[in-house]
Amino acid sequence: MPTVNSKLDEWIDALALIGGSGNQVNRFAWTPELLIASEWLVNRLRELGLPAEIDAAGNVVGRWLSGEGPAVLVGSHLDTVPDGGRFDGALGVLSALEAIRRLQAERFRPSRPLWIAAFNDEEGTRFNTTMFGSGAFVGDDLSGLRDRVGADGVPLGAAMQERGFDFDSVPTARAIDSVGCYIELHIEQGPRMEAQGLNTAVVTGIVGVRGYRVVLRGQTNHAGTTPMEVRRDALAGASRVVLALRDSALHAQDITANVGRIDISPGGTNVVPGEAVFLVDVRAADPQRFASLDSLVREIVAAAATAERLTAEIDPTHTHPPIMMDTQLQQLLAKEMTAAELEWTSMPSGAGHDAQVLARHVPTGMLFVPSKNGISHAPEEFTSSEQREAGVAILTRVLRNLCSEAA
Ligand code: GLV
Ligand code: MN
Ligand code: MN
Repeated sequence: MPTVNSKLDEWIDALALIGGSGNQVNRFAWTPELLIASEWLVNRLRELGLPAEIDAAGNVVGRWLSGEGPAVLVGSHLDTVPDGGRFDGALGVLSALEAIRRLQAERFRPSRPLWIAAFNDEEGTRFNTTMFGSGAFVGDDLSGLRDRVGADGVPLGAAMQERGFDFDSVPTARAIDSVGCYIELHIEQGPRMEAQGLNTAVVTGIVGVRGYRVVLRGQTNHAGTTPMEVRRDALAGASRVVLALRDSALHAQDITANVGRIDISPGGTNVVPGEAVFLVDVRAADPQRFASLDSLVREIVAAAATAERLTAEIDPTHTHPPIMMDTQLQQLLAKEMTAAELEWTSMPSGAGHDAQVLARHVPTGMLFVPSKNGISHAPEEFTSSEQREAGVAILTRVLRNLCSEAA
């Protein structure tokens, strides 16, 4: 790949310092870290001469106002998982910024508006919301989330207010009606591309994701004096759920299951846990399997509660159905990869993305670049400069194509 003048690596390093140290980054919804990162992006966009703002849902939206018609939208997200890495989301946003910078440098004039977005709270780390910003952007009804409380005990509405935002204004972030299509570059977050020695891939579809918050309640009691057979141990119930979910996923085809957080209380070495609160994530790419996951989770939780004589509450926190990427955009991505003399493959995404929210409304395409050792959602997340360059080169070509007169 020829060496090109690029700001991408410099921007990645600068952004990673906001909420980050070394390779570990923490930027969550409505925290100072994410808002500072969002303002940093607004400033980069304004330096490129693009009007940019943080909308009522916390999304950064920049607009290259040019030409006529529905906009081409390109973007990803800037928030992270707890102790996440430098690339998940950030690489997509910064590659989009770099692609726009390159198009400007070549004095390209888009035949239609070219917008860039960094969607707020894709990961849902703080409020277990996931894809809050893209949901608002497409006009989803998010009104039920106002009182959603994160692990820090602050309701979402109050967290927004603390940062000068108003929950009631979130619907004004809807802008999908001005958008004609959406493109997102992302790290693969799995091992397949690296194993095949490929630097770019066309995404065919995105897995369906269901999230739940489960509360099991038993009886807090003395760890030494309470006979084993009469205990109502909430952690024992939660452990049953963890293992039953894992076994179901192991034995079913193409589903995954995860319990990624568990809080037990009161939490003492000599105290039988009276309450366990935990977060479940289950996924399937096939629509029928995806539909069956709800009863699977509910049955497993009910069986564990019965076995340990606990009460159970189960609340769905987010549901994103599986969705295919637009066929024509897949073809365009593939055409540009071939034209750039890059070897490529097609593959589904096992990770959730803002693209699956946008794809419900407008033709949507995604491209992947590799993840070293298949690791993501961890500080070890890494994509080499050469791989990043391959991604941004394709993104630039695709945007140039979509914003050319004949497109
Ligand atoms: C986002 O990274 C997800 O897959 O949940
Ligand atoms: Mn992620
Ligand atoms: Mn992501």
